[in-house]
Parts: sequence; C-alpha cells; structure tokens
Amino acid sequence: MKFFADTAEIADIKELAATGLLDGVTTNPSLIAKSGRDFMEVTREICAIVDGPVSAEVVALDHEGMMREAEVLRKLADNVCIKVPLTIDGLKTCKALTGDGTMVNVTLCFSANQALLAAKAGASFISPFIGRHDDNGFDGMDLIRDIRLIYDNYNFQTEILAASIRHGVHVLECARIGADVMTAPPAVIKGLFKHVLTDKGIEGFLADWAKTGQTI
Ligand code: E4P
Repeated sequence: MKFFADTAEIADIKELAATGLLDGVTTNPSLIAKSGRDFMEVTREICAIVDGPVSAEVVALDHEGMMREAEVLRKLADNVCIKVPLTIDGLKTCKALTGDGTMVNVTLCFSANQALLAAKAGASFISPFIGRHDDNGFDGMDLIRDIRLIYDNYNFQTEILAASIRHGVHVLECARIGADVMTAPPAVIKGLFKHVLTDKGIEGFLADWAKTGQTI
C-alpha cells in the first residue's frame, strides 16, 4: 500500500520524505488555507520534495473553469495530480484530462456507485472519505470494501486512495482490504511507527548494554 501525506506543511512533508516511505502528497483547499501559504508556491515546493503524485485541487465548479485551473496547476510540475470533485462537471473534466495523459484524483467520494463512475471516467485515483463517512453514521470501511470488489470485478485500473483517515486502525483495515493508497495526516503516519513495547524494549536493551561496558 502506498503512503501519501494529507498536508500542505512543508516541514512535515520533508520529515516524512526523509524516511523513504512517502509515496505522494494530497492537499485540498482547507489544508492550503491552514498552511497560510500561497497555493502555487507551496504546491511547487511540495512537488520538488516528493517524486510521487501531489494532488492539487481545482475550486471551479464548472467544466470550463476546472479545465482552466487544471491548465495552470499542471504547469507547476510533472508530478502534479489534478484533484476534481465527484460531480458531473468534475468527471467530465477527469475524462478530458486523463485522456490527455494528466493524472487525476477524483475526490469527495461517498458511495461505491460514485467510485464506479470515476473509474469509467478514467480517474487515476478515487478518494473515498472514510472518517467523514464514519462521522455520518456509515461504515467507511464498507465503502472501501465495496469499491475494491467492484474495481476487481471489472479490472478497473483506477487506484483506491483511502482518504479522511483518522487513526491507525483505519490504516490497518485499508491494508487488509487492499486499498492501493492511503492518505493520512502526518501525525497519524508518525503514530504508526510507535509501540509502547518497542520503547520499553529499547530501554531494557540499553540498560543491559550499559552494564557490559562495551562500545560498537
Ligand atoms: C483527501 O484527499 C482529503 O484531503 C482528506 O483526506 C480529507 O480528510 P478530512 O476528512 O480529515 O478533512
């Protein structure tokens, strides 16, 4: 499973990229607003840090407007992935852009039927939002499971990019189901490294090592 960081914070992206485990980045208008940075400038910077896809979202709601914005965004770097909402105009834009060889991430997916439409529109990635689905009384994991089944039934090449991930159990379940990618906030990704018994184990080994008086 590929790991994307869901953030526009440069320091966090650099830290995660240095582990060698970061495969891409997703941003959205809320994350850009939170960063306080200029959209174009920060997106260009992120694209230079990671080799993989960096999702940059359009804000126009009509097809022509989305195409115009995508044109500006895709000039930023070769690894820009245009993010469009799951609407009729969004999927029309998806079809046009992917037909042209541009990566497209279709976002704000809340049903398996929507994911089916995105795959038919040739999306590179579909982003089902697990946490927001859970928040509204549905099981976000059922959504991932259904999309996996449908995509495998028809051998769709669209990658399932599990989004709106809130904790490690979401990551684990996505890996069990076979999501292709998961995008999570840096804190969630960093949390995956942690285990109380790992810390305790290191502490114990170091204490015993000190007793030997040796060095390596
Ligand atoms: C995905 O691309 C979105 O940016 C993101 O995962 C949304 O997550 P949230 O529901 O935590 O805002």
